[in-house]
Amino acid sequence: MLVPFPQRRLRRLRRTPALRELVAETRLSPRDLIAPLFVREGIDAPVEVPSLPGVHQHTIASLRREVAELTSLGVGGVVLFGVPEQRDAEGSGCWAPDGIAQRALRALRDDHGDAVVLVADLCVDEYTDHGHCGIVAVDGTVDNDATLELYQRGALAQAEAGADLVAPSGMMDGQVAAIRSALDGAGYETTGILAYAAKYASALYGPFRDAVDVCIADGGDRKGYQQDPRNAREALVEVAEDVSEGADIVMVKPALAYLDVVAAVRAAVDVPVAAYHVSGEYAMVHAAAQRGWIDGDAVMEEHVLAIRRAGADLILTYAARDLAERLQ
Ligand code: PBG
Repeated sequence: MLVPFPQRRLRRLRRTPALRELVAETRLSPRDLIAPLFVREGIDAPVEVPSLPGVHQHTIASLRREVAELTSLGVGGVVLFGVPEQRDAEGSGCWAPDGIAQRALRALRDDHGDAVVLVADLCVDEYTDHGHCGIVAVDGTVDNDATLELYQRGALAQAEAGADLVAPSGMMDGQVAAIRSALDGAGYETTGILAYAAKYASALYGPFRDAVDVCIADGGDRKGYQQDPRNAREALVEVAEDVSEGADIVMVKPALAYLDVVAAVRAAVDVPVAAYHVSGEYAMVHAAAQRGWIDGDAVMEEHVLAIRRAGADLILTYAARDLAERLQ
């Protein structure tokens, strides 16, 4: 005779889709997603990024169409990256009033008013001829405090162009405080800061650098300013600093390989937590799916859900559009 096993039958709540829906602990909605978008100067038609299937370098016209579609799908916001025609040592396209990202922000604000959340990535690497995220000193290192001035100029240009949130991604010490004081000093008290707080020197950014045509000079890397992947506690120090300097939202980047960090940050702070599901994480899923080795749509959804389950309130992901379509 079978021994009865009445204590707990976990499968009861898994029996039907309706029951599973009722007890789901984590929900993913298009509102939680922010789509990274690229706008490139000097092209007259959008160019697909080969290593990021479905992602384009946009013209301002194609960007406007894309944002209109994302908005109608209910995507929570967009984060904009500019790809300029000219680059220089300081990255002056980052703060030029008619720089490509500023022109794009103005166009999107005209189209949507306050109905769309516009985030502007705030860094100079897309605009510098050496590809670093700041001013390179004679010894080859990036000069922290000189770079803060560039970020202040960029923040003002982006706020003036209509960004709701500026998102400093350069990992200079003190960047949030410097940007906050520049914004407040110019009357932009309502412009927020989404801080790339715990950003790691990751090998997963490769396809992004294709998308913005950035190659770091002399085979260089960003290990002198981005975090060492071996360190998790250090992320909490970074996050605490950024919150005390005035960050409105803190971000962990990359996401999947750093879910421990996402969970620890979520537990440590009460401001919204974002995570950036980065280009390499997206590209790997597409590459395996193209070979027929995995079901790409299902894996992408499972990955983004995992980032949410780990504690991210907001997720920056190149899959925003596809997921929003699936989640309608
Ligand atoms: C730097 C920046 C990077 C990304 C976003 N902002 C690249 C880097 O730090 O080298 C990477 C995003 C991605 O891989 O999707 N401004």
